[in-house]
Amino acid sequence: MANKKADMKTIVSLCKRRGFIFPGSEIYGGLANTWDYGPYGVELKNNIKREWWRAFILKRDDVVGLDSAILLNPKTWEASGHLKSFADPLMDCKECKERVRGDQLLESKLGDGAAAGLDFASIYAKINDNDIKCPRCGKRNFTEPRAFNLMFKTFQGVIEDSTNVVYLRPETAQGIFLEFKNIVNTCRQKVPFGIGQIGKSFRNEITPGNFIFRTREFEQMEMEFFCKPGTELEWYAYWKKYCWEWLLSLGLRTENMRMRDHDQKELSHYSNATCDIEYEYPFGWGELWGVASRTSFDLTAHMNASGEDLRYFDQEANDRYIPFVVEPALGVDRTLLTFLVDSYDEDEIGGEKRVVLHLHPRIAPVKAAILPLVKKDPVMGIAEKIYRGFKDEGEFLVEMDESGSIGKRYRRHDELGTPCCFTVDFESEQDGKVTLRDRDTTKQERVDISNIEKILRDKIRGV
Ligand code: GAP
Repeated sequence: MANKKADMKTIVSLCKRRGFIFPGSEIYGGLANTWDYGPYGVELKNNIKREWWRAFILKRDDVVGLDSAILLNPKTWEASGHLKSFADPLMDCKECKERVRGDQLLESKLGDGAAAGLDFASIYAKINDNDIKCPRCGKRNFTEPRAFNLMFKTFQGVIEDSTNVVYLRPETAQGIFLEFKNIVNTCRQKVPFGIGQIGKSFRNEITPGNFIFRTREFEQMEMEFFCKPGTELEWYAYWKKYCWEWLLSLGLRTENMRMRDHDQKELSHYSNATCDIEYEYPFGWGELWGVASRTSFDLTAHMNASGEDLRYFDQEANDRYIPFVVEPALGVDRTLLTFLVDSYDEDEIGGEKRVVLHLHPRIAPVKAAILPLVKKDPVMGIAEKIYRGFKDEGEFLVEMDESGSIGKRYRRHDELGTPCCFTVDFESEQDGKVTLRDRDTTKQERVDISNIEKILRDKIRGV
Protein backbone atom coordinates (compact mmCIF):
# COMPACT_ATOMS: atom_id res chain seq x y z
CA MET A 1 0.00 0.00 0.00
CA ALA A 2 1.12 3.54 -0.76
CA ASN A 3 1.05 4.90 2.73
CA LYS A 4 -0.17 2.77 5.56
CA LYS A 5 -1.85 5.76 7.17
CA ALA A 6 -3.96 6.84 4.22
CA ASP A 7 -6.99 4.78 3.35
CA MET A 8 -9.60 6.05 0.92
CA LYS A 9 -12.06 6.91 3.68
CA THR A 10 -9.49 9.15 5.33
CA ILE A 11 -8.65 10.88 2.05
CA VAL A 12 -12.31 11.43 1.09
CA SER A 13 -13.09 12.79 4.53
CA LEU A 14 -10.05 15.11 4.55
CA CYS A 15 -11.05 16.39 1.11
CA LYS A 16 -14.53 17.28 2.27
CA ARG A 17 -13.53 18.65 5.68
CA ARG A 18 -10.84 20.90 4.26
CA GLY A 19 -12.56 22.14 1.11
CA PHE A 20 -10.68 20.14 -1.50
CA ILE A 21 -13.47 18.02 -2.98
CA PHE A 22 -17.19 17.80 -2.21
CA PRO A 23 -19.74 15.17 -3.34
CA GLY A 24 -21.55 16.57 -6.41
CA SER A 25 -25.17 17.82 -6.16
CA GLU A 26 -25.12 17.02 -2.46
CA ILE A 27 -28.21 19.04 -1.51
CA TYR A 28 -30.25 16.89 -3.92
CA GLY A 29 -28.88 13.65 -2.53
CA GLY A 30 -25.89 13.56 -4.86
CA LEU A 31 -25.35 12.11 -8.33
CA ALA A 32 -23.47 8.83 -8.62
CA ASN A 33 -19.78 9.44 -8.13
CA THR A 34 -19.72 13.05 -9.29
CA TRP A 35 -17.48 15.46 -7.42
CA ASP A 36 -17.03 19.22 -7.13
CA TYR A 37 -13.62 20.72 -6.52
CA GLY A 38 -13.70 23.24 -3.68
CA PRO A 39 -11.41 26.27 -3.24
CA TYR A 40 -8.31 24.21 -2.35
CA GLY A 41 -9.09 21.39 -4.75
CA VAL A 42 -9.34 23.71 -7.71
CA GLU A 43 -6.00 25.35 -6.78
CA LEU A 44 -4.34 21.95 -6.55
CA LYS A 45 -5.89 20.91 -9.84
CA ASN A 46 -4.88 24.13 -11.61
CA ASN A 47 -1.33 23.78 -10.28
CA ILE A 48 -1.07 20.21 -11.59
CA LYS A 49 -2.36 21.30 -15.00
CA ARG A 50 0.05 24.25 -15.06
CA GLU A 51 2.98 21.95 -14.24
CA TRP A 52 2.00 19.54 -17.00
CA TRP A 53 1.62 22.42 -19.48
CA ARG A 54 5.01 23.81 -18.46
CA ALA A 55 6.78 20.47 -18.86
CA PHE A 56 4.99 19.23 -21.97
CA ILE A 57 4.43 22.48 -23.90
CA LEU A 58 6.17 25.61 -22.62
CA LYS A 59 9.57 24.05 -21.95
CA ARG A 60 9.66 22.21 -25.26
CA ASP A 61 10.64 23.42 -28.72
CA ASP A 62 8.90 20.48 -30.29
CA VAL A 63 5.40 20.48 -28.74
CA VAL A 64 2.56 22.97 -29.24
CA GLY A 65 -0.75 23.38 -27.40
CA LEU A 66 -4.35 23.02 -28.53
CA ASP A 67 -7.84 23.40 -27.11
CA SER A 68 -10.20 21.51 -29.39
CA ALA A 69 -13.98 21.19 -29.07
CA ILE A 70 -15.68 18.57 -26.90
CA LEU A 71 -18.33 17.97 -29.59
CA LEU A 72 -16.77 16.64 -32.77
CA ASN A 73 -18.36 15.55 -36.02
CA PRO A 74 -19.72 12.04 -35.24
CA LYS A 75 -17.80 10.66 -38.22
CA THR A 76 -14.73 11.13 -36.02
CA TRP A 77 -15.89 8.35 -33.69
CA GLU A 78 -16.82 6.09 -36.55
CA ALA A 79 -13.34 6.43 -38.03
CA SER A 80 -11.49 6.12 -34.71
CA GLY A 81 -13.38 2.90 -33.91
CA HIS A 82 -15.02 4.30 -30.77
CA LEU A 83 -18.56 3.78 -32.06
CA LYS A 84 -17.93 0.14 -32.78
CA SER A 85 -15.55 -1.00 -30.12
CA PHE A 86 -15.30 1.49 -27.25
CA ALA A 87 -17.41 -0.82 -25.14
CA ASP A 88 -17.14 -2.74 -21.89
CA PRO A 89 -18.61 -6.21 -21.15
CA LEU A 90 -21.66 -5.45 -19.01
CA MET A 91 -23.04 -8.36 -16.96
CA ASP A 92 -25.95 -8.46 -14.55
CA CYS A 93 -26.29 -10.80 -11.61
CA LYS A 94 -29.70 -12.44 -12.08
CA GLU A 95 -29.99 -13.01 -8.33
CA CYS A 96 -29.33 -9.59 -6.81
CA LYS A 97 -29.28 -7.36 -9.95
CA GLU A 98 -25.71 -6.20 -9.27
CA ARG A 99 -24.08 -4.77 -12.42
CA VAL A 100 -20.49 -5.73 -13.06
CA ARG A 101 -17.84 -5.30 -15.73
CA GLY A 102 -16.88 -8.83 -16.77
CA ASP A 103 -13.22 -7.97 -17.43
CA GLN A 104 -12.84 -6.21 -14.08
CA LEU A 105 -14.51 -9.06 -12.21
CA LEU A 106 -12.14 -11.53 -13.82
CA GLU A 107 -9.06 -9.44 -13.07
CA SER A 108 -10.12 -8.79 -9.49
CA LYS A 109 -10.05 -12.56 -8.90
CA LEU A 110 -7.33 -13.81 -11.26
CA GLY A 111 -4.99 -10.81 -11.34
CA ASP A 112 -3.97 -8.04 -13.78
CA GLY A 113 -4.04 -9.03 -17.41
CA ALA A 114 -6.37 -12.03 -16.88
CA ALA A 115 -8.91 -10.50 -19.27
CA ALA A 116 -6.33 -9.10 -21.69
CA GLY A 117 -7.13 -9.79 -25.31
CA LEU A 118 -10.22 -11.90 -24.50
CA ASP A 119 -13.46 -11.42 -26.39
CA PHE A 120 -16.70 -11.19 -24.41
CA ALA A 121 -17.60 -14.87 -24.83
CA SER A 122 -14.18 -15.94 -23.51
CA ILE A 123 -14.51 -13.61 -20.52
CA TYR A 124 -17.86 -15.21 -19.71
CA ALA A 125 -16.44 -18.72 -20.09
CA LYS A 126 -13.45 -17.93 -17.88
CA ILE A 127 -15.68 -16.49 -15.16
CA ASN A 128 -17.71 -19.72 -15.17
CA ASP A 129 -14.67 -22.00 -15.42
CA ASN A 130 -13.11 -20.34 -12.38
CA ASP A 131 -16.38 -20.30 -10.47
CA ILE A 132 -16.20 -16.54 -9.92
CA LYS A 133 -19.17 -15.32 -7.94
CA CYS A 134 -21.10 -12.06 -7.69
CA PRO A 135 -19.20 -9.71 -5.35
CA ARG A 136 -22.51 -8.66 -3.78
CA CYS A 137 -24.58 -11.79 -3.17
CA GLY A 138 -21.93 -14.50 -3.58
CA LYS A 139 -23.91 -16.48 -6.18
CA ARG A 140 -22.89 -17.28 -9.73
CA ASN A 141 -25.78 -16.59 -12.04
CA PHE A 142 -24.74 -13.88 -14.50
CA THR A 143 -26.26 -12.79 -17.79
CA GLU A 144 -23.93 -13.15 -20.76
CA PRO A 145 -21.85 -9.99 -21.34
CA ARG A 146 -23.44 -7.28 -23.48
CA ALA A 147 -21.37 -4.62 -25.23
CA PHE A 148 -22.00 -1.37 -23.44
CA ASN A 149 -20.72 1.63 -25.38
CA LEU A 150 -19.09 4.15 -23.07
CA MET A 151 -19.79 7.25 -25.11
CA PHE A 152 -22.39 9.73 -23.87
CA LYS A 153 -24.85 10.42 -26.64
CA THR A 154 -26.81 13.64 -26.99
CA PHE A 155 -28.55 15.72 -29.67
CA GLN A 156 -27.39 18.87 -31.36
CA GLY A 157 -30.04 21.51 -32.08
CA VAL A 158 -33.76 21.34 -31.43
CA ILE A 159 -34.68 18.12 -33.19
CA GLU A 160 -33.91 14.90 -31.34
CA ASP A 161 -33.46 12.48 -34.22
CA SER A 162 -30.66 10.26 -35.42
CA THR A 163 -29.32 12.87 -37.85
CA ASN A 164 -28.59 15.20 -34.94
CA VAL A 165 -26.79 12.74 -32.68
CA VAL A 166 -23.47 13.93 -31.27
CA TYR A 167 -21.20 12.42 -28.62
CA LEU A 168 -19.32 13.95 -25.72
CA ARG A 169 -15.69 13.10 -26.44
CA PRO A 170 -14.39 10.10 -24.47
CA GLU A 171 -10.77 11.27 -24.94
CA THR A 172 -9.13 14.53 -25.95
CA ALA A 173 -6.82 12.73 -28.39
CA GLN A 174 -9.11 12.64 -31.43
CA GLY A 175 -9.44 16.45 -31.48
CA ILE A 176 -5.67 16.56 -31.87
CA PHE A 177 -5.68 14.23 -34.89
CA LEU A 178 -8.38 16.34 -36.52
CA GLU A 179 -6.20 19.46 -36.20
CA PHE A 180 -2.92 17.82 -37.26
CA LYS A 181 -3.03 19.29 -40.75
CA ASN A 182 -3.96 22.83 -39.64
CA ILE A 183 -1.10 22.84 -37.17
CA VAL A 184 1.44 21.57 -39.70
CA ASN A 185 0.27 24.30 -42.09
CA THR A 186 0.35 27.16 -39.61
CA CYS A 187 2.88 26.55 -36.85
CA ARG A 188 6.23 25.85 -38.57
CA GLN A 189 6.55 22.55 -36.74
CA LYS A 190 8.42 19.77 -38.46
CA VAL A 191 8.05 16.07 -37.68
CA PRO A 192 9.03 14.94 -35.06
CA PHE A 193 6.75 17.19 -33.02
CA GLY A 194 3.84 16.91 -30.62
CA ILE A 195 0.47 18.51 -29.93
CA GLY A 196 -0.78 18.55 -26.34
CA GLN A 197 -4.06 19.51 -24.79
CA ILE A 198 -5.89 19.52 -21.50
CA GLY A 199 -9.64 19.15 -21.33
CA LYS A 200 -12.73 17.35 -20.15
CA SER A 201 -13.63 13.89 -21.35
CA PHE A 202 -16.73 11.85 -20.65
CA ARG A 203 -17.25 8.10 -20.36
CA ASN A 204 -20.41 6.37 -19.26
CA GLU A 205 -18.44 4.03 -17.01
CA ILE A 206 -20.37 0.97 -15.79
CA THR A 207 -18.59 0.97 -12.46
CA PRO A 208 -17.38 4.45 -11.56
CA GLY A 209 -15.82 4.52 -8.12
CA ASN A 210 -12.87 4.80 -5.80
CA PHE A 211 -13.58 8.51 -5.34
CA ILE A 212 -12.13 10.50 -8.25
CA PHE A 213 -10.14 7.54 -9.62
CA ARG A 214 -12.89 6.52 -12.03
CA THR A 215 -15.64 9.01 -12.83
CA ARG A 216 -17.91 9.64 -15.79
CA GLU A 217 -16.72 13.22 -16.24
CA PHE A 218 -12.99 13.81 -15.88
CA GLU A 219 -10.13 15.80 -17.30
CA GLN A 220 -7.25 14.54 -19.37
CA MET A 221 -3.78 15.86 -20.25
CA GLU A 222 -2.82 14.18 -23.50
CA MET A 223 -0.07 14.62 -26.03
CA GLU A 224 0.21 13.09 -29.47
CA PHE A 225 3.81 13.02 -30.65
CA PHE A 226 4.14 12.62 -34.43
CA CYS A 227 7.30 10.97 -35.68
CA LYS A 228 8.77 9.27 -38.72
CA PRO A 229 7.74 5.60 -39.12
CA GLY A 230 10.52 3.42 -37.77
CA THR A 231 11.55 5.92 -35.08
CA GLU A 232 8.45 5.42 -32.92
CA LEU A 233 9.93 2.90 -30.48
CA GLU A 234 12.81 5.23 -29.68
CA TRP A 235 10.35 8.06 -29.00
CA TYR A 236 8.18 5.68 -27.01
CA ALA A 237 11.12 4.90 -24.70
CA TYR A 238 11.93 8.61 -24.50
CA TRP A 239 8.38 9.66 -23.46
CA LYS A 240 8.01 6.83 -20.96
CA LYS A 241 11.10 8.15 -19.17
CA TYR A 242 10.00 11.78 -19.49
CA CYS A 243 6.60 11.03 -17.92
CA TRP A 244 8.15 9.01 -15.10
CA GLU A 245 10.58 11.81 -14.33
CA TRP A 246 7.84 14.44 -14.36
CA LEU A 247 6.06 12.56 -11.59
CA LEU A 248 9.29 12.30 -9.59
CA SER A 249 10.03 16.00 -10.09
CA LEU A 250 6.77 16.73 -8.28
CA GLY A 251 7.71 14.52 -5.38
CA LEU A 252 5.93 11.23 -6.10
CA ARG A 253 7.70 8.38 -4.31
CA THR A 254 9.10 5.65 -6.53
CA GLU A 255 8.35 2.90 -4.01
CA ASN A 256 4.67 3.39 -4.80
CA MET A 257 5.08 3.41 -8.57
CA ARG A 258 5.77 0.84 -11.25
CA MET A 259 5.98 0.73 -15.02
CA ARG A 260 3.91 -2.10 -16.46
CA ASP A 261 4.49 -3.01 -20.10
CA HIS A 262 1.54 -4.56 -21.89
CA ASP A 263 2.32 -7.98 -23.23
CA GLN A 264 1.45 -8.94 -26.79
CA LYS A 265 -2.09 -10.18 -26.07
CA GLU A 266 -2.94 -7.06 -24.07
CA LEU A 267 -1.94 -4.63 -26.83
CA SER A 268 -4.70 -2.85 -28.77
CA HIS A 269 -4.80 -3.87 -32.41
CA TYR A 270 -3.28 -0.52 -33.46
CA SER A 271 -0.45 -0.41 -30.92
CA ASN A 272 3.02 -1.90 -31.22
CA ALA A 273 3.99 -0.99 -27.63
CA THR A 274 2.07 0.28 -24.61
CA CYS A 275 2.83 0.67 -20.96
CA ASP A 276 1.00 1.92 -17.91
CA ILE A 277 2.63 3.90 -15.17
CA GLU A 278 0.82 2.44 -12.18
CA TYR A 279 0.50 3.59 -8.62
CA GLU A 280 -0.32 1.56 -5.54
CA TYR A 281 -3.50 3.19 -4.25
CA PRO A 282 -5.11 2.18 -0.95
CA PHE A 283 -7.40 -0.10 -3.03
CA GLY A 284 -4.51 -1.68 -4.97
CA TRP A 285 -2.41 -1.03 -8.07
CA GLY A 286 -4.11 1.08 -10.72
CA GLU A 287 -3.26 2.82 -13.99
CA LEU A 288 -2.21 6.40 -13.57
CA TRP A 289 -0.71 7.16 -16.98
CA GLY A 290 -0.89 5.28 -20.25
CA VAL A 291 1.92 5.67 -22.78
CA ALA A 292 1.15 4.09 -26.15
CA SER A 293 2.85 3.79 -29.48
CA ARG A 294 -0.24 4.04 -31.71
CA THR A 295 1.42 3.56 -35.10
CA SER A 296 -0.31 5.54 -37.88
CA PHE A 297 -3.70 4.09 -36.99
CA ASP A 298 -5.60 7.29 -36.18
CA LEU A 299 -4.29 9.54 -38.96
CA THR A 300 -4.80 6.75 -41.49
CA ALA A 301 -8.37 6.17 -40.29
CA HIS A 302 -9.25 9.89 -40.48
CA MET A 303 -7.56 10.23 -43.85
CA ASN A 304 -9.57 7.33 -45.26
CA ALA A 305 -12.85 8.47 -43.73
CA SER A 306 -12.57 12.18 -44.55
CA GLY A 307 -10.78 12.00 -47.87
CA GLU A 308 -8.30 14.67 -46.65
CA ASP A 309 -4.64 14.00 -47.31
CA LEU A 310 -3.13 13.85 -43.83
CA ARG A 311 0.29 12.75 -44.99
CA TYR A 312 3.27 14.82 -43.96
CA PHE A 313 5.70 16.12 -46.56
CA ASP A 314 9.28 15.92 -45.40
CA GLN A 315 10.98 18.57 -47.54
CA GLU A 316 14.54 17.61 -46.71
CA ALA A 317 14.04 13.96 -47.58
CA ASN A 318 11.53 14.77 -50.34
CA ASP A 319 9.32 12.11 -48.81
CA ARG A 320 5.60 11.98 -48.04
CA TYR A 321 4.32 9.72 -45.25
CA ILE A 322 1.70 9.28 -42.54
CA PRO A 323 3.50 9.95 -39.25
CA PHE A 324 3.49 7.41 -36.45
CA VAL A 325 2.27 8.56 -33.05
CA VAL A 326 3.41 8.12 -29.47
CA GLU A 327 0.79 9.16 -26.93
CA PRO A 328 1.27 9.82 -23.21
CA ALA A 329 -2.30 10.11 -21.82
CA LEU A 330 -2.87 11.16 -18.23
CA GLY A 331 -5.95 11.96 -16.15
CA VAL A 332 -5.89 15.20 -14.15
CA ASP A 333 -8.23 13.92 -11.42
CA ARG A 334 -6.34 10.66 -11.06
CA THR A 335 -3.06 12.56 -10.78
CA LEU A 336 -4.56 14.76 -8.09
CA LEU A 337 -5.75 11.71 -6.15
CA THR A 338 -2.30 10.17 -6.49
CA PHE A 339 -0.56 13.24 -5.09
CA LEU A 340 -3.04 13.41 -2.21
CA VAL A 341 -2.57 9.76 -1.26
CA ASP A 342 1.20 9.89 -1.69
CA SER A 343 1.70 13.08 0.31
CA TYR A 344 -0.65 12.22 3.17
CA ASP A 345 1.02 11.58 6.50
CA GLU A 346 0.28 11.53 10.19
CA ASP A 347 2.90 12.25 12.81
CA GLU A 348 3.28 13.66 16.29
CA ILE A 349 4.61 17.09 17.14
CA GLY A 350 5.26 17.77 20.83
CA GLY A 351 3.01 14.87 21.80
CA GLU A 352 0.19 16.12 19.58
CA LYS A 353 -1.02 14.23 16.53
CA ARG A 354 -1.02 16.08 13.24
CA VAL A 355 -2.15 15.34 9.70
CA VAL A 356 0.11 16.73 7.02
CA LEU A 357 0.17 16.77 3.25
CA HIS A 358 3.78 16.84 2.05
CA LEU A 359 2.72 18.26 -1.31
CA HIS A 360 5.45 19.64 -3.52
CA PRO A 361 5.43 23.46 -3.11
CA ARG A 362 4.78 23.80 -6.84
CA ILE A 363 1.41 22.11 -6.56
CA ALA A 364 0.46 22.97 -2.95
CA PRO A 365 -2.84 24.91 -3.12
CA VAL A 366 -1.77 27.55 -0.60
CA LYS A 367 1.87 28.58 -0.91
CA ALA A 368 2.15 30.44 2.39
CA ALA A 369 0.12 31.53 5.39
CA ILE A 370 0.70 34.85 7.14
CA LEU A 371 -0.07 34.50 10.83
CA PRO A 372 -0.26 37.60 13.05
CA LEU A 373 0.35 36.52 16.66
CA VAL A 374 -2.30 38.99 17.87
CA LYS A 375 -5.05 40.88 16.12
CA LYS A 376 -3.63 44.26 17.13
CA ASP A 377 -1.32 46.81 15.58
CA PRO A 378 1.54 46.97 14.89
CA VAL A 379 1.53 43.13 14.48
CA MET A 380 -1.68 43.14 12.46
CA GLY A 381 -0.57 46.05 10.28
CA ILE A 382 2.71 44.31 9.36
CA ALA A 383 0.91 41.04 8.58
CA GLU A 384 -1.66 42.89 6.43
CA LYS A 385 1.12 44.56 4.45
CA ILE A 386 2.90 41.28 3.71
CA TYR A 387 -0.35 39.58 2.80
CA ARG A 388 -1.56 42.45 0.60
CA GLY A 389 1.76 42.41 -1.29
CA PHE A 390 1.08 38.82 -2.43
CA LYS A 391 -2.60 39.45 -3.09
CA ASP A 392 -1.85 42.43 -5.31
CA GLU A 393 0.56 40.32 -7.37
CA GLY A 394 -2.21 37.70 -7.77
CA GLU A 395 0.34 35.07 -8.76
CA PHE A 396 -0.35 32.38 -6.22
CA LEU A 397 -2.59 31.75 -3.25
CA VAL A 398 -1.38 33.13 0.08
CA GLU A 399 -3.69 33.21 3.09
CA MET A 400 -3.97 35.40 6.15
CA ASP A 401 -4.97 33.33 9.18
CA GLU A 402 -5.63 35.11 12.44
CA SER A 403 -7.95 32.83 14.41
CA GLY A 404 -7.02 30.26 17.08
CA SER A 405 -3.73 29.50 18.80
CA ILE A 406 -0.61 29.58 16.68
CA GLY A 407 -0.23 25.79 17.06
CA LYS A 408 -3.75 25.27 15.77
CA ARG A 409 -3.08 27.52 12.82
CA TYR A 410 0.10 25.59 11.92
CA ARG A 411 -1.87 22.35 12.13
CA ARG A 412 -4.62 23.79 9.93
CA HIS A 413 -2.10 24.64 7.24
CA ASP A 414 -0.26 21.31 7.56
CA GLU A 415 -3.51 19.60 6.57
CA LEU A 416 -3.75 21.80 3.49
CA GLY A 417 -0.12 21.15 2.60
CA THR A 418 0.93 24.83 2.95
CA PRO A 419 4.75 24.71 2.77
CA CYS A 420 5.52 27.92 4.71
CA CYS A 421 3.94 29.82 7.58
CA PHE A 422 5.22 33.30 8.43
CA THR A 423 4.36 34.42 11.96
CA VAL A 424 4.41 38.13 12.74
CA ASP A 425 5.05 38.82 16.44
CA PHE A 426 5.85 41.62 18.90
CA GLU A 427 9.52 41.75 17.82
CA SER A 428 8.74 42.11 14.14
CA GLU A 429 8.43 45.89 14.24
CA GLN A 430 11.86 46.29 15.89
CA ASP A 431 13.93 43.69 14.04
CA GLY A 432 12.05 43.62 10.71
CA LYS A 433 11.83 39.82 10.97
CA VAL A 434 9.15 37.14 11.17
CA THR A 435 9.27 33.47 12.15
CA LEU A 436 9.30 31.07 9.23
CA ARG A 437 7.90 27.67 10.14
CA ASP A 438 8.57 24.83 7.73
CA ARG A 439 5.74 22.35 7.13
CA ASP A 440 7.91 19.27 6.65
CA THR A 441 10.58 19.73 9.33
CA THR A 442 8.43 21.97 11.61
CA LYS A 443 11.67 23.89 12.18
CA GLN A 444 11.35 27.58 12.94
CA GLU A 445 13.77 30.38 12.08
CA ARG A 446 13.78 34.15 12.04
CA VAL A 447 13.90 35.63 8.56
CA ASP A 448 13.89 39.19 7.21
CA ILE A 449 10.50 40.44 6.09
CA SER A 450 12.23 41.84 2.99
CA ASN A 451 13.33 38.28 2.16
CA ILE A 452 9.94 36.53 2.37
CA GLU A 453 9.14 36.71 -1.31
CA LYS A 454 12.54 35.30 -2.31
CA ILE A 455 12.28 32.50 0.26
CA LEU A 456 8.90 31.53 -1.11
CA ARG A 457 9.94 31.68 -4.75
CA ASP A 458 13.05 29.58 -4.04
CA LYS A 459 10.92 27.04 -2.22
CA ILE A 460 8.50 26.80 -5.15
CA ARG A 461 11.36 26.51 -7.64
CA GLY A 462 12.93 23.84 -5.44
CA VAL A 463 16.17 25.81 -4.89
N1 GAP B 1 -6.28 8.67 -25.62
C1 GAP B 1 -5.96 7.52 -24.87
C2 GAP B 1 -6.74 7.38 -23.65
O1 GAP B 1 -7.70 8.10 -23.42
P1 GAP B 1 -6.97 5.91 -21.51
O2 GAP B 1 -5.99 4.95 -20.89
O3 GAP B 1 -8.33 5.41 -21.78
O4 GAP B 1 -6.27 6.41 -22.84
C3 GAP B 1 -5.88 7.95 -20.32
O5 GAP B 1 -7.05 7.21 -20.61
C4 GAP B 1 -5.89 8.35 -18.86
O6 GAP B 1 -7.09 9.06 -18.54
C5 GAP B 1 -5.89 7.18 -17.87
O7 GAP B 1 -4.58 6.70 -17.66
C6 GAP B 1 -6.44 7.83 -16.62
O8 GAP B 1 -5.45 8.58 -15.95
C7 GAP B 1 -7.46 8.81 -17.20
N2 GAP B 1 -8.83 8.22 -17.18
C8 GAP B 1 -9.37 7.36 -18.07
N3 GAP B 1 -10.64 7.05 -17.75
C9 GAP B 1 -10.91 7.73 -16.61
C10 GAP B 1 -12.07 7.83 -15.75
N4 GAP B 1 -13.21 7.20 -16.05
N5 GAP B 1 -11.99 8.63 -14.67
C11 GAP B 1 -10.85 9.30 -14.38
N6 GAP B 1 -9.74 9.25 -15.15
C12 GAP B 1 -9.76 8.48 -16.24
